[in-house]
Parts: sequence; structure tokens; C-alpha cells
Amino acid sequence: MVTVILTMNLSARFTVQGSGFQSSRREKYGNVFKTHLLGRPLIRVTGAENVRKILMGEHHLVSTEWPRSTRMLLGPNTVANSIGDIHRNKRKVFSKIFSHEALESYLPKIQLVIQDTLRAWSSHPEAINVYQEAQKLTFRMAIRVLLGFSIPEEDLGHLFEVYQQFVENVFSLPVDLPFSGYRRGIQARQTLQKGLEKAIREKLQCTQGKDYSDALDILIESSKEHGKEMTMQELKDGTLELIFAAYATTASASTSLIMQLLKHPAEVMRLFTPISGGYRTVLQTFELDGFQIPKGWSVMYSIRDTHDTAPVFKDVNVFDPDRFGQARSEDKDGRFHYLPFGGGVRTCLGKHLAKLFLKVLAVELASTSRFELATRTFPRITLVPVLHPVDGLSVKFFGLDSNQNKILPETEAMLSATV
Ligand code: HEM
Repeated sequence: MVTVILTMNLSARFTVQGSGFQSSRREKYGNVFKTHLLGRPLIRVTGAENVRKILMGEHHLVSTEWPRSTRMLLGPNTVANSIGDIHRNKRKVFSKIFSHEALESYLPKIQLVIQDTLRAWSSHPEAINVYQEAQKLTFRMAIRVLLGFSIPEEDLGHLFEVYQQFVENVFSLPVDLPFSGYRRGIQARQTLQKGLEKAIREKLQCTQGKDYSDALDILIESSKEHGKEMTMQELKDGTLELIFAAYATTASASTSLIMQLLKHPAEVMRLFTPISGGYRTVLQTFELDGFQIPKGWSVMYSIRDTHDTAPVFKDVNVFDPDRFGQARSEDKDGRFHYLPFGGGVRTCLGKHLAKLFLKVLAVELASTSRFELATRTFPRITLVPVLHPVDGLSVKFFGLDSNQNKILPETEAMLSATV
């Protein structure tokens, strides 16, 4: 039996592009310092105590802040964009999607999607670009497993292309001019919403004969239970948010998982945190670590730097998976030292689903395939828009025969010739 403890931490060092600048400023100015983002002042916050104050201050000290393009393109009906009571109610409705029972019902489908994908990767004669392929995999998981859409393969491929156009422009300058990134984002949103509406209508008509409930079924039921039946627009925004939230984050973590397994093939694993941190607007002036944080300013709580500097981790630079084992449980020593999924009232809603997906991927990778780095050295890592290797990570996958030996391409060709 394969036991996988899945954790995320940055202690195993790779060269991370763009991170040196912020960490050298942190070393110079301390855990709370002023910087700029796109010409606007921003307070960057590191360290469990400081981060705790930001995350627990949601709705009274600070409020979530997404760039305007993201707010407009994702739409007003999303959990991430809503605040106050609307946010609380939406979380209640959405949390049913991620209950233990719901996750159990998705599990066989997640396994199938991952097994099919690994088979395809292994039968590919060349090395594959892991990050690109992991993006396709998480998109497929969101569409087929979470939303239960039975869209034909060709249409799914087309939808994925439109979705990529959407994601590429979700953090663009909000200038609505012909050929601007923002305009391309709006067009992609319109096409996606059309496709989603068609799939939702078809799904609502033919729910018979289904062997499991998906997140969309649960969402529709849960909204009725809470007396807030969702409109078609809310359903479309909700499904787009689920795809968006699951997509880049889980693809980043899946790629890091494969990279870690390549570096440390015999070990349990830890992963890089896909999201560097979260942004907030200050609602009222407050004090943090001896500094006045003025009302109206922007704050970014840093997940990455907080992990990097957490005093609870012994030898933080050392790859040491046992630190998360039952005997040591270093991550339990303070809730806000270890926060790959954020914290407080905006803790990631999909964290249990993401962990389940990554565990299934780890188990299937270990039991059904072997893989080798196809480049001489490991690539550099970039943090934008989420953490990923700059070249996507080039890896050759092999299937395994009944003796757990690699099936080499020549053997595969011979086998198919004899059939
Ligand atoms: C490895 C994968 C993932 C990571 C690292 C991750 C990380 C995060 C983080 C750090 C936040 C908080 C952002 C903030 O404080 O502003 C967040 C929020 C959120 N995540 Fe995830 N996430 C992952 C996967 C998922 C999945 C699979 C889903 C759903 C299908 C999801 C749904 C959400 C939603 C809806 C929110 C907004 C919550 C709110 O504003 O109340 N995430 N995620």
C-alpha cells in the first residue's frame, strides 16, 4: 500500500525567479514594509502573527481586493468577489460541494480521469510539457468531475482554448479597447458563458441514469435548501469560478509534485505553495508590528515568505518530509506559520478537493508509471501568475508492465505489432 502525506512548503529550494527582490527588501526593512504594485502603494506583510491579524480582520479591518479586470471578468456573483453577509451565505451554499461525503462521491471519477491522463502521457513517444498537460488535466477534472458536463471531446478542446484566452487576460489592464487584453478577456468570458449555459441546460434536462452527484448538482440542491435558488447567471458565474479556482492552482501543485518526486523519488513529498499571497484593502487604520497601516491602502499577506521564515520549521532550508509526520507535526505549532490555502473566513473552499486530487495523482504516479526529467538540469521557477517551472517541466513518462518494469517505446511497438 502506498501512503502519501501531502504537504506544501517551500523549504526544498529551487531557483525562484523574482523572489529575491522581495526577500532582500524584507531582510532590509522587516516583516511589514511598503512597496509598489502597478504604480500603487502596497504594504507587504510576512510572519504568522502579522498574517493572522490580516486574515482574521476580514470584513472589519480589511476587505478582499482583486484587480478590477479580475472582478469584471469573473463576475459579481462569485464567492471570492463578495463581501460581508453575501460572502458568508455564498460560502455556506458552496461548502456542501466540498463535504466529506461529496468528495467521496467524486473520488472514482477523479481516479478515472487521472488514470486516462497518465496512460496518454506514458504512450506519448516524446517528453511532455508537464505544466501545460497538468493544466489540461485540471480543466478536464473541473468540467467532467466537478460539473458533470458530458461535452464531446472536440468541443471540450475548443472550450479549453477559449478558457486559456480568458485566463491569460484575467489580470490585464482594465482598458476596454479593440485588441486589448481586457477586450479579449471579455470576449472569452462571453463565449465561455454561452458554452456553460448550453451544458447546464443539457445537464438539467438529463440527470437520469447518473451514477454519482457532481458539484453542480450539489450546488443547485444546496442553494434551494438555503432558500436561495440560483438564477442561470449565478450558476454560470459559479461554475466559471469553480473552474478558475481549481485550474492554475492545482496545475501548479501537480507540476511541483512531479518535480519533487523526480528529485526525491523514495520520499513522501512536500510541494511549493502555488499562490504567493492574497490582497486586501484596509477598511480602517490599524497597527501592525509597530506600524500604522492607513485606511484605503492595499495590503498583501505573503504565504511564501511566511513559510520561508517560519521559526516553527527546524532547518527551514532542508528537505525533510518527516517534519510533517505525526511524531513532529511542526506545522501544527502555529496555525498561521503554514498556510498554503490561506486562512480565516476566506480560507480556500476547495482545499480538501485539491488535496484529494493531488493524493490520487501521487498514488497513480507511483503505482502505474515511471518518469524521467528530459532536460539536463531542473528548470528555474517563476511565481507569475502562479508558481511553475519556466520551461513547463519537460518529462518523459513510461507505463509499467505487470512486473513493474518500464514499458519502453520499442516494446510497445512490438506488442502492438503482434496483436
Ligand atoms: C493546490 C490547489 C489550491 C491552492 C494552493 C489554493 C489556494 C487558495 C488560497 C491561498 C485562497 C485564499 C485567497 C485569499 O486569501 O485572498 C483560496 C481561495 C479560494 N479557493 Fe483555493 N486553492 C486551491 C484549489 C482550489 C480548488 C480546487 C477550488 C475549487 C474547486 C478552490 C476554490 C477556492 C475559492 C472559491 C476561494 C475563495 C474563498 C473566499 O473568498 O471565501 N481552490 N485558494
